[in-house]
Amino acid sequence: MDIQTIMVVGAGQMGAGIAQVHAQSGYYVYLHDVKETQVEKGLERVKKNLTRQTEKGRLTNEEKSEILSRIVPSTELENASKADLAVEAIVENMDVKKKVFKELDECAPPHAILATNTSSLPITEIAAETSRPSQVIGMHFMNPVPVMKLVEIIRGLETSDKVFDAVKQTAESLHKTPVEVNDFPGFVSNRILMPMINEAIYTVYEGVSSPEDIDQVMKLGMNHPMGPLTLADFIGLDTCLYIMETLHDGFGDDKYRPCPLLRKYVKAGWIGKKVGRGFYNYNE
Ligand code: NAI
Repeated sequence: MDIQTIMVVGAGQMGAGIAQVHAQSGYYVYLHDVKETQVEKGLERVKKNLTRQTEKGRLTNEEKSEILSRIVPSTELENASKADLAVEAIVENMDVKKKVFKELDECAPPHAILATNTSSLPITEIAAETSRPSQVIGMHFMNPVPVMKLVEIIRGLETSDKVFDAVKQTAESLHKTPVEVNDFPGFVSNRILMPMINEAIYTVYEGVSSPEDIDQVMKLGMNHPMGPLTLADFIGLDTCLYIMETLHDGFGDDKYRPCPLLRKYVKAGWIGKKVGRGFYNYNE
């Protein structure tokens, strides 16, 4: 399959990164969001990242301009009609994702692959919303996308080998390492990571220790590059809560119950670094 043009749906922290790495590898990219301001923010994020690379001497100004010229802003989903591959990176909510996949199925050409960057939701259920379940697949990038090597690739029940191979090759062309995992809640990455983050939040909730000290224990004691609460703020506490709910619903086991403090922070709008407040205050 010849993939040249992609559409990234959702221009948030993940969408911007996904658009950047594709443009950097020569693909043409539509960066799409419902709001124009979000598309602008996403493009700003890409520009900032590329500027940092030019400052470090890894990229010339000319290369930076070329990469940026390959990213086209979009607020019309109909632009998907020009895409060979769509990568969805909107909010981690099944109802919203299903709606977008239904619309993408209508707009995208028959040969196009529809991929989701979901952290935890079942690919098979998303695929069932479309008339092309064999062309729907999970393509789960890690945050920050330009830095992290891993892409989890998740087949839905009907995903074809041809589509799997095309997505695997695309990930490799981005200098990423694809790993195939099965379609189970949270796949591998978040099934293991998120309960640890949730447990760290319980540790704050039960007054065992402060966020700073918990992060310090995990960094110095376990050699993690980043403490779990810093990581939770970085991922987004809204996304963490959605993932825990998916694990809880999917496995029905109490060990996946989201901590009430996580719910409280999300209700307060303290959803992490992207808004300046989570377990830490980024505005101070
Ligand atoms: P975010 O909150 O930064 O961005 C989401 C974007 O989607 C926003 O710009 C929003 O305006 C847009 N959006 C919402 N509904 C839309 C619609 N119907 N059509 C078009 N755009 C729409 O979220 P983030 O962190 O980028 O996460 C996006 C997805 O990536 C989620 O599924 C999440 O689980 C997954 N993910 C997140 C990671 C993280 O560390 N934050 C890591 C890997 C995957």
